[in-house]
Amino acid sequence: MSKGWNLAFVAMLACYSQSVQAGTRAYHGQIMHFVADPRELGSRALEYYEDGLLVVKDGKILKAGSYQQVHPSLVEDSTRGSIVVEDYRGKLIMPGFIDTHIHYAQTEMVAAYGEQLLEWLNTYTFPTERKYKNFAYARKQAKFFLDQLVRNGTTTALVFAAVFPESVDALFTEASKREMRLIGGKVMMDRNAPDYLLDTAADAYTDSKALIAKWHGRGRLLYAITPRFAPTSSPEQLQAAGKLLAEHPGVYLQTHLAESHAEVAWVKELYPDRSNYFDVYDHFGLSGSRSIFAHSIHLSDQERQRMAATQSVASFCPTSNLFLGSGLFELQDLLDRGIRVGLGTDIGAGTSFSMLQTLNEAYKVTQLQNQKLSSLIGFYLATLGGAKALSLDDRIGNFLPGKEADFVVLDPQATPLLATRMQNSLRLTEKLFVLMNLGDDRAVRATYVNGKLAYQIDHGKA
Ligand code: GUN
Ligand code: ZN
Repeated sequence: MSKGWNLAFVAMLACYSQSVQAGTRAYHGQIMHFVADPRELGSRALEYYEDGLLVVKDGKILKAGSYQQVHPSLVEDSTRGSIVVEDYRGKLIMPGFIDTHIHYAQTEMVAAYGEQLLEWLNTYTFPTERKYKNFAYARKQAKFFLDQLVRNGTTTALVFAAVFPESVDALFTEASKREMRLIGGKVMMDRNAPDYLLDTAADAYTDSKALIAKWHGRGRLLYAITPRFAPTSSPEQLQAAGKLLAEHPGVYLQTHLAESHAEVAWVKELYPDRSNYFDVYDHFGLSGSRSIFAHSIHLSDQERQRMAATQSVASFCPTSNLFLGSGLFELQDLLDRGIRVGLGTDIGAGTSFSMLQTLNEAYKVTQLQNQKLSSLIGFYLATLGGAKALSLDDRIGNFLPGKEADFVVLDPQATPLLATRMQNSLRLTEKLFVLMNLGDDRAVRATYVNGKLAYQIDHGKA
């Protein structure tokens, strides 16, 4: 059977099936996903089909492979019901991006001028988060935030809400409507911030527990216990966070760690009995395989060893670390130690929702340390590596059968510059490198969440 004939037949199936509702859909384009870590297997970690077909049924991946291989079974299946085939030829289909650190209550203050971490928090962040006590306001902002995620091809995120339970309800209400796999939690903070933003150790415990009961495991949503960082939590509050974590297996822990020098010095003053910053969290039972520590920059050898030993996770937030002048994340060292690392945009200290732009800055952070971030490792971290960092690789991160169908369709020719540069790129790894450096939301043609179209670019407006 000639290829031309095949294509015509699929088009006919697509046409025929428009009027019939069916659970199966197929996507025809360049398909790539990781099946292993490229640091271990190099390019063998990647499966790539230049002319590929991704088949999705009831929100789950049925199969991914070459068009030639997969298409015949599709035709067979079509006898039992029609199948819609979306034509994304010339586009690159990959698993949705995974953002392992972001604050939804900071969306409207991104790109705030002139301060480093601690002043930035006091000047811009705290007054902004105050507004999220109002459910209606928080919900409106949550909608905008989730729109931004899918516009950038991000299908899963680990999210800080604000201190108010209403802010969590707003985020999860909207995420649940969109069937997104999202992890989030109420910020716990009982000192060293304005009164209007403080809870107490006891209230933080009770409120977080109620939110876990309400949201954790509801649809695709998961809960993260969220002490903001050691300076804004009393020892009693960190103890309460540890108690919550112990009481709720499967729930996550997210916080900030060793982002700036001034913060590290402050933690030393506030917790003089602890041997280092990571030990503060470790001491209260907050380390572990579902504990994600944003930034993790200024860490001693001892802290790194302990992070590895406890299987704790680091979130690398390059646009934020450069924007606040925080420092250079030592990606290679942490990976060499076997510490799982995910990428984070850290909006609103980070300056872009785009994981492509996050990779762009990540590359520069490694260059400043005389290292290199290859496109393979970059896209791995943004997809399967992120899923592993969040212990969700049994559900998302690649296109193995049965995985949840979250994926992004990228247009390698989205802008004149991308198109010109792509003509000059021979290998897939080079194309990916160009995409991660020149791409942004303009390169996201469409995003699918749980097998459903969640965003597509409006060419009319572009
Ligand atoms: N440390 C404590 N809170 C924050 C925050 O909101 N953003 C960043 N980047 N670091 C923090
Ligand atoms: Zn943060």
